[in-house]
Amino acid sequence: MNKESAHELLSQYIKSNSLINHSKMVAFAMESYALSKNMDVETTHKWWLTGLLHDLDWEQFPDEHPSYAVNVLLPNYEIGEDILHAILSHAPARTGVHPTSELDRYLFACDELSGFIHAVSLMRPTAYDGMKVKSVTKKLKTLNFAANVSREDIHEGVRLIDTSLQDHIQYLITVFQQKKLEGLID
Ligand SMILES: [Fe+2]
Ligand SMILES: [Fe+2]
Repeated sequence: MNKESAHELLSQYIKSNSLINHSKMVAFAMESYALSKNMDVETTHKWWLTGLLHDLDWEQFPDEHPSYAVNVLLPNYEIGEDILHAILSHAPARTGVHPTSELDRYLFACDELSGFIHAVSLMRPTAYDGMKVKSVTKKLKTLNFAANVSREDIHEGVRLIDTSLQDHIQYLITVFQQKKLEGLID
């Protein structure tokens, strides 16, 4: 599925701008990590697509998320099994499917933290610009800030991709600064 069709599919099932924005943020985070690992064009696109579609059913079928997308919506399109597995495994508590492949693990690691960094950006007049790792880690310890974001999942994600929390946060901040500058995310 090419980028244009993927965006079309997304806007067919998601009306909320913030959920579209979240989907794009996770897609860019995934794409950037794939590029940093020198993955080929096809694989990099796959990582982007996985990020973009991971919450496809969240708005309309929240109780069945993400199984509804994987079992009902996405089989109508040419979406690889590895992408479907990754989407299932970003919500292991719901699906019982745990992240195993590299694609699975990076999706899990990028999802919650992207949402959290976006929440931090909303508190700052310059959004991602000038955002420091420390201001993000500080907010992570403030449990009533973005309380719906699971700190446990963020730490689990960092463990899954074998990096440090600081490095992962810095990496994502840099990606989002660039994409915001390009006008591609909010
Ligand atoms: Fe989700
Ligand atoms: Fe998500």
